[in-house]
Amino acid sequence: MDAALAHLEANRDRYLNELFDFLRIRSVSAQREHEEDVRAGAEWVRARLEAAGIDAAIYEDGSGLPTVYGRRIQNLDQPTLLLYGHYDVQPPEPLDLWETPPFEPTVRDGVIYARGCADDKGPTLAMIQAAECWIAATDSLPVNLKVVIEGEEEVGGRVIERYLEKHAADLAADAVVIADVSGAAAGVPSLCYGLRGLVVVDINITGPARDLHSGTYGGTVANPATALARLVATLHDDEGRVAVEGFYDGVQPVDDTERARIAEVPFDEQAHLAETGAPALFGEAGFTTLERKTARPTVEVNGIFGGYQGEGSKTIVPAKAGCKMTCRLVPGQDPAHVQGAMVAHLEKHAPSAVNVEIRRGPVAKAVYSNPTTPWAKAACRALETAFGKSPVLMREGGSIPVVNTFQKLLGTPPLLLGTYTPGERAHSPNERYPIEDFYRGIRTGIALFGEAP
Ligand code: BES
Ligand code: MN
Ligand code: MN
Repeated sequence: MDAALAHLEANRDRYLNELFDFLRIRSVSAQREHEEDVRAGAEWVRARLEAAGIDAAIYEDGSGLPTVYGRRIQNLDQPTLLLYGHYDVQPPEPLDLWETPPFEPTVRDGVIYARGCADDKGPTLAMIQAAECWIAATDSLPVNLKVVIEGEEEVGGRVIERYLEKHAADLAADAVVIADVSGAAAGVPSLCYGLRGLVVVDINITGPARDLHSGTYGGTVANPATALARLVATLHDDEGRVAVEGFYDGVQPVDDTERARIAEVPFDEQAHLAETGAPALFGEAGFTTLERKTARPTVEVNGIFGGYQGEGSKTIVPAKAGCKMTCRLVPGQDPAHVQGAMVAHLEKHAPSAVNVEIRRGPVAKAVYSNPTTPWAKAACRALETAFGKSPVLMREGGSIPVVNTFQKLLGTPPLLLGTYTPGERAHSPNERYPIEDFYRGIRTGIALFGEAP
């Protein structure tokens, strides 16, 4: 292990510059105009794996965006890890809020600013470079390594699922290493043992065939924007609880043990509030902020639109209105059941005299993985070695849908490594990633490969 760490020390600048190169690639999976950039991202990752000594290739099946896969079978007597990450990033908009351009990585006060630096290019590259450190320094790797790095994570794409289905037999591994969650605090890593699931539901309301004069027609037909607002307002009660019948069916309760575990996480509520910029914290009554964000399900309106949005006022009854919503799920909830409950609720409360159309989007189950297995303990030791601090066991509020697919198709449990400082502004302007977290990430990978039980 010392030799691998020495290799890192000797290559610090080169590794950081490689991250900058990776960050300059505009691999925005949500935007068609960036399709070529996404492909360039896949090719960059493939070449980087090869350069590290890992055989790599690109998988495409004619739909969606490429998945990069790789492998280095060192010795069949050794354990096998499967490395997962994503090279696609969220759209950078709104651009005017970035202090420096999103695809020109810039360092201020030891922190990198760029779209995708924390989510998930930095942590993913760190794991590849960690493997390289072992291979370059010892001509060997203490584990067999399989790699799957996708380009559709941020859009919930299915190409990776088909890849896993097709190649399940080749992908057998003891654990899936995923560095795509945040740590507990600056310099304090986490081993994440839970992720929330996701259910997507959209509403489209139409009324009159075109926007109408609100003087001539206002008061004579239903207003789609008003109808939508009334419908959305039925989703929660005044205390922030979801008011959809059946929504909470099966929810694993936050029992005393879980409460105590969550209470131990060094979570700074005021810092969390400051990160958001919101005037106050708010959420479901009866739960702490950290319980709300990781162990309780929610319904969120992601976008709401309809009618005139331009300058000044315009006296119309709009022809249509709509909204996009996502539910975050916790263990015990069945995504199909939750989606059905949402649709039934929306149909039941649909205001009369407008057309209400409800669209069902993708779903994903929540993740819960035992943090006391030998592999989880090895991951904890590795994080401790890299950070000089023992990791906090915690759950996260976000979702990584493919984790379930690994579990279901391959039976392989995840090791979710939290290596970066929270408050990274993932999906927001001025996404940030401390340079030191990048090196700690590489050291975590080096230690994990060396710690395999
Ligand atoms: N890295 C995140 C997932 C994440 C976020 C984990 C916060 C832990 C805490 C991932 O890239 C992501 O953004 N996932 C999406 C999934 C969706 C697009 C299907 C999410 O959670 O919204
Ligand atoms: Mn991510
Ligand atoms: Mn993301």
